This record gives sequence, structure tokens and C-alpha cells, in this order.
Amino acid sequence: MEGPDRTWESPDYEPSLPVSEKSNPLTRDIDQASAIGIVRMLQACDGQMFEEDTAVKYQRLLSKQVVQTLVEVAKRVELILKDPQDGLVVLSGCGTSGRIAFLVASRFSRRLKDVNQSSVYSYIIAGGDRALLSSQEAPEDDAKLGRLMLKEACEGKKRVVFIGVSCGLSAPFVAGQLDFCLRHPEVFTPVLVGFNPAHQARDEPIEGCTFTFGSVVQRMLELAQSQRAFIISPAVGPEAISGSSRMKGGSATKILLEVILSTAQAAAFSRAPLTETVTLQYLLAYKNAVDVTYSRTEQISTLVEAAGKSLRCGGRVCYLGWGTLAVLGLIDASECNPTFGADYEDIRGFIAGGYVELDNNEGPLTSLGPDFSISHEEFFRSVLPSLTDRDTVLLLYTHSDDLGEVAALARRVRERTSNLHAIYHRGGGDNAATDRQEVIDNLCSSTLKISWPSPQTRISVHMQWELSTKLLLNAISTGGHVLKGKVYRNHMVDVQVTNSKLYRRAARLLQKLSGHPKSQCEEALLKAIYQS
Ligand code: F6P
Repeated sequence: MEGPDRTWESPDYEPSLPVSEKSNPLTRDIDQASAIGIVRMLQACDGQMFEEDTAVKYQRLLSKQVVQTLVEVAKRVELILKDPQDGLVVLSGCGTSGRIAFLVASRFSRRLKDVNQSSVYSYIIAGGDRALLSSQEAPEDDAKLGRLMLKEACEGKKRVVFIGVSCGLSAPFVAGQLDFCLRHPEVFTPVLVGFNPAHQARDEPIEGCTFTFGSVVQRMLELAQSQRAFIISPAVGPEAISGSSRMKGGSATKILLEVILSTAQAAAFSRAPLTETVTLQYLLAYKNAVDVTYSRTEQISTLVEAAGKSLRCGGRVCYLGWGTLAVLGLIDASECNPTFGADYEDIRGFIAGGYVELDNNEGPLTSLGPDFSISHEEFFRSVLPSLTDRDTVLLLYTHSDDLGEVAALARRVRERTSNLHAIYHRGGGDNAATDRQEVIDNLCSSTLKISWPSPQTRISVHMQWELSTKLLLNAISTGGHVLKGKVYRNHMVDVQVTNSKLYRRAARLLQKLSGHPKSQCEEALLKAIYQS
């Protein structure tokens, strides 16, 4: 059997770029691939997350040092959980990193509530809650805003574990927050999560600041020696679509944050040992979730094909979901506009229960515009009447959801389109088909059903379902847009240039594809931005 392709790890491979911005040799021809070819490439790419480290260069997700740091950070969280008064755990990030921070903080807050414990988790996303559902990229450059939002979230707290996520070790918003933590060590334990080695942190000046992301990382590295700061930055390999950190970056963020909080919570309330072995078992459970998901290559490609067909002929793709799977649908849909230049109607998410179920800090955002209408009722009102076979509708649910409700919704959709599909997770070895499930199966033209064995670890099976759903939706929206022609080789070519990172990326791409000098490319880019 062939070993994994490790070309990207060679020092000669795109040497000027950090791992998170390199182009992945595995997907070089993704724009020429069929639906099944795309899925296979994504499978290989996601598989890189769990590759073993070789003697040199990069720390990986399963590396000993990463596992050790996860244990140490979980111990800090455990202390807050055991003595929650005046304590807080803040998860923060920009774009997908902030959305995943929201998802994880909400889940674990809910878990604490279920066992009558006070909540200690809070999330911050650059641009506020509107960024949960739409791209707000300019605030990502604002270090001062990051600091202010953190200060506000931690008002009156005496001990804070701050976990800042920046996949590329690059967002000024997060650098501003980490700098603030470093200036107040009596309160804050700063933790940085990202997917480049520390020396590849961005070293560009940040407006109005004397520090760069790189200099903040240097200060953290010094404190890390005495465990007063922590850096968790395994390489997971270049993204399938270059720089699209919503994909592996988002998945690995979800994995790391959940492992930290799950193990901390188990230690605090069930006296489960907080050890490297246990932490590694959790990580391997996620690896298993990735493997189980991609064992359905054919079925995934049916969904990719359907999405591609809809997008190509001006139709829509709608995710109609329940619970956290629906949140993943909202997140995936929100990322298509900045990544592929998609309209908000091209791929849209809806959640049963709307904002009540989302339970975000700022409450309902419907007044911000039609793209912030997210309930199933809103789908019935504004989308269903114009639905046709050109559109693809995808149901996202698990056996814990109300299958009667799912069946009722499926019936209504089926009256307008036959292009109805489902992703359904069931757990605990429960293979019995219920009557309602049979009804749903008969209404759908395809159902991707995954039966999950009970996990060996304490990991919640829901978290595996979520990761699995995230991979599936990323494959559908990415694959659909690739089939529509929104990707050249493995580059986003319809990207919006709305912050400094994206500006640099766009200028680099122009240079690479045109062969013209940097200055000329930047001039052309500026002209395009300012339409002059
Ligand atoms: O600027 C846009 C973006 O690239 C998003 O797509 C991404 O989720 C976000 O930045 C955050 O990037 P990072 O996690 O590297 O800070």
C-alpha cells in the first residue's frame, strides 16, 4: 500500500508560505475531478490531520508534546470548573475559528447546566454574533477591538483561561487579546491554538500596535517554559482549497477544544484521570469518526453531485437541520460567500427552533436582513413556495431528534422537489429502522445513514456526529462549488479581498498565476478593489 504523500513537509515545498497557506499537492487537480474524485481527495486531505510526526519539522495532532500540552491546559480548566466563582474560560477567534468557539462553548455550557453547575464558558467572535452567520472579515484585523471584547467579557473575573484560536497564527484580533492576557498574568492564562509551527506566525505590523502576531508568540514561548502560557499548534497539512481554514483548521479546532473541555469536565465532576493516555484516546475517537464518515465515499459523492448540479443551474442548496447539526449547517453556509463569492441564497442553513435553539449571546438577529432568518418557519415562508427540482434540500438530524417532525417537514418539501436528501446519525448500535425513518427514507432520493458504535472513551457520540456532519457539509459545499467552476486548480479565485490576510493571499495568487512581478500584481489588485 502506498504511504501518505508528505511532499508538503519538504523544506523546498513553497518555502515562503506557512503550512496553512500552502497549496496541497493532493488536490492540485481538484478542479478537473468528478464528484467522487473530489470526495477521495478530501478524504486523503482530512486523513493528513492524524498522520504521525516524522523525526523532523512539524508537531502533529497526535504528537506527544501536543497531547502533553492538552493535558496541562485541561488541568487549568478543571481548576476553574471546581471553583467557578470569579473564574472564566473564554474561547475566541475570527470567522470559522470564532464559530467553532461558539459551538463548543454553547455545548459545554449546556452540559454544565444539565448537571446544575454554573456556567464558566464564554465565546468571542470578531465582529460579534452577526459573524456567526455571515462573513465579517474587517474586524479580524482589529487588535484593539479584540482586546476590548475580551476585557468586557472578563469584567470582574479573577482567574481566566483564555483560548485564542487563529488557524494561521495570524489574526490581529486574537493577537490583541493574547497581548492583553500577557500584560495581566495575575488573571489570565493565555492559550493559543493554531495549525502552523510557532516560527511561522505572521510577522507583519499591526495597525496601532507595537507587537506582531509573531512577537506575541515569542513572548508566549518564553512563558510556556514555566507553564504560564500554552501554545498548541500542530500542523494538519495544507488545506484542500489553499488557505480555506474552515476545512481542516475548523475540524482540528473543534477536536482540540472539545478534548480539552471534555477531559477537564470528566476530571472535575467524575474524577476521571486527566492523563496523556486518556487524551490520546479522545483524539483517536475523532480519527475514527473521520474514517467512518469517509467510508461512505459513494453516498457523499451523490450529495456533492446534487449540490454541484443545483449550483451550476442557478438553483439553491438548503440545509434543514435540528440541534447542533443544524448549527453546523448554518456555519457551513455562512462560509460560502467569502470562499466562493457565493450569494447567501446559494447555500443556506435553517435550524429548528431558530434563535431560541441557537442561543447566541446577542439573541435574534433577524432585523439584520433576510440572510439572518434561520428558522424552519422562515424556510416555509420564504423558500418553500419557490422550491423546484433545481434546488437541493438536505435534512440533517440524529435519532435523538423528533423523527415525526422530520418526516412532516420532508413531506412538505417533497411536494415541491424530488431533490431531497438526508444525513442521519444514529448511535449506540441502534440499527432498528423505525416506521418514521422508513417514511423519511421513502421521501428522500438518498439517505446517508451512519450507525455509530458506542464510543470506547467518555467522548460524547454527539461530538463524533458533529465532526462527521461538518466533514460532509464541507465536502458538499466545497465540492459543489468546485463543480460549478469556482476553484482554479486548488485556489479560491472568487475570494473577496476584505482584510489584510486575504489581500496578501490575493496578491500572491495573482503573481503565481500571471507570472508578473509583485508590484504590478499589487497595483492591479488595488485597482480592482477600488474599481479605478
Ligand atoms: O479572513 C477570513 C478567514 O480566512 C476565514 O475564512 C477564517 O475562518 C478566518 O479568516 C480565521 O482565520 P484564522 O483562524 O487563521 O485566524
